[in-house]
Amino acid sequence: MIEIKGLTKAFGGHSVLKNVSAEIKEGELFSVIGPSGIGKSTFIKCIIRLLRPDGGQVIVDGQDIASTTSEFTLARVRRSFGYLFQEGALFDSLTVLENVAFGLKYLTDIPKGEYPRIVKEKLALVGLEGVENLKPAELSVGMKKRVSLARSIAAEPKYILYDEPTTGLDPVTTGMVKDLITDMRAKLGITSVVVTHDVRLALEISSRVAMLYGGEFVEVAEPDVFRRSENKAVREFMEISHLSRK
Ligand SMILES: Nc1ncnc2c1ncn2[C@@H]1O[C@H](COP(=O)(O)OP(=O)(O)O)[C@@H](O)[C@H]1O
Ligand SMILES: [Mg+2]
Repeated sequence: MIEIKGLTKAFGGHSVLKNVSAEIKEGELFSVIGPSGIGKSTFIKCIIRLLRPDGGQVIVDGQDIASTTSEFTLARVRRSFGYLFQEGALFDSLTVLENVAFGLKYLTDIPKGEYPRIVKEKLALVGLEGVENLKPAELSVGMKKRVSLARSIAAEPKYILYDEPTTGLDPVTTGMVKDLITDMRAKLGITSVVVTHDVRLALEISSRVAMLYGGEFVEVAEPDVFRRSENKAVREFMEISHLSRK
């Protein structure tokens, strides 16, 4: 479980997260939505301490990592996370096999000889076969997303963080990524946090949706309840996204 309590983060006097709190339970698919520039990526980066929060707590499986100074604790907790970067961030000079196996070297003590078997297995989970020796430049956008996803699950994380998983994708690829995220949760039971400006996506796939606005979660609810929220920021955001009240 991830418990976030009173999280704060500012950049040079500009306060982005003012008081963010949430409990993300095992097996949940928790989405954070909000307009561009509101602090969604900042939130996700604070969860794994790519950014150090100014205040508050981020308790992962009982361990507060917001303030820990122990590199050992940080490394251990980070190992329980997969992270799908917005841009995919594959290494162009490495093959698919090397890309997917990349984290295994740092995050696990699995012997190198096992990598091909593990990579094949993870690629199969995202619906890819026989692409191990290709370079990213030889892949379609959708295939790159799949490879990125295979990489983020290679070390079998307990949690996975998705930053704007569908941004910049065509509708077909978006549908595919949506199914993959849902699958990762169903097949592997991975607790997932998705940050996105795509309200429609969040409402379709999540167990709960949180709206980040003014440095806080102004609404946290199951999709059906969220849709009917009376919160002004939620209503406005739904309207801009062409999702009117049902
Ligand atoms: N490393 C940084 N240094 C300074 N400002 C930053 C940094 N990261 C983000 N910001 C600022 O914080 C705000 C929130 O950014 P971000 O979390 O990326 O928003 P979102 O992901 O919702 O689009 C923006 O105003 C952005 O310019
Ligand atoms: Mg962002």
